[in-house]
Amino acid sequence: MTPEPRVVAHRGASAALPEHTLAAYELALDQGADGLECDVRLTRDGHLVCVHDRRVDRTSTGTGLVSEMTLKHLNELEFGANGEPVLTLAQLITLVLDHTSRPTKLFIETKHPVRFGGLVESKVLAELSRFGLSAPPSADHSRAVIMSFSAAAVWRIRRSAPLLPTVLLGESSRYLGGGAATTVGATAVGPSIKSLREHPEIVNRAAAAGRATYCWTVDDFDDVQLCRELGVGWIATNHPGRTKEWLAQ
Ligand code: G3P
Ligand code: CA
Repeated sequence: MTPEPRVVAHRGASAALPEHTLAAYELALDQGADGLECDVRLTRDGHLVCVHDRRVDRTSTGTGLVSEMTLKHLNELEFGANGEPVLTLAQLITLVLDHTSRPTKLFIETKHPVRFGGLVESKVLAELSRFGLSAPPSADHSRAVIMSFSAAAVWRIRRSAPLLPTVLLGESSRYLGGGAATTVGATAVGPSIKSLREHPEIVNRAAAAGRATYCWTVDDFDDVQLCRELGVGWIATNHPGRTKEWLAQ
């Protein structure tokens, strides 16, 4: 029997609380999420922070590019309704490791790795190494998964940390057209739910090549059922609590 999809909280329980805040991730864990998703960017002074957009304008009280701001400057801004500061990757890793009641995984998406020419990935690996997470006993037992829309970024991670699981994100053409995931050695493919609706065969093709499927962003009941029927391994959602309940029915 195919196991039920596991639920990844996309930017935390981000339908309920401001995305990428500690509060949103804590709520996701309380709601039973099996994994937490975050986007990471480098600050001007080389710190990894959990911010989706290039700019901080949409999600904070400030304006400007993350890459041009220092961590000190970012810490002066408010990212949540209750004045939460920016969340660093280190703080999020700590939250995951401190949550000992079940082995939650952290899905780290590197943003704009091309511009920094591999610096983002090497910083992420250094941070995982600092927490003892960069060389897991096996991909299945890893507490961290690295994801990217950049095939070059996935390839660099595979080369530097071969045991870490990786997800090559993209639309359907990336997986249907040929062996992008094989070329870079990704352990999973990461189509959008729109791609999966149009090309459900992506899941079986990936499975035939020994790869899991991670689908984003799955917020509707019918889409959760589709993922379930197709045997998708991981679904990323902004509503982890509701999705866990649907899957328990
Ligand atoms: O989980 C993958 C998904 O987050 C990719 O899209 O724009 O939300 O980072 P985006
Ligand atoms: Ca993301």
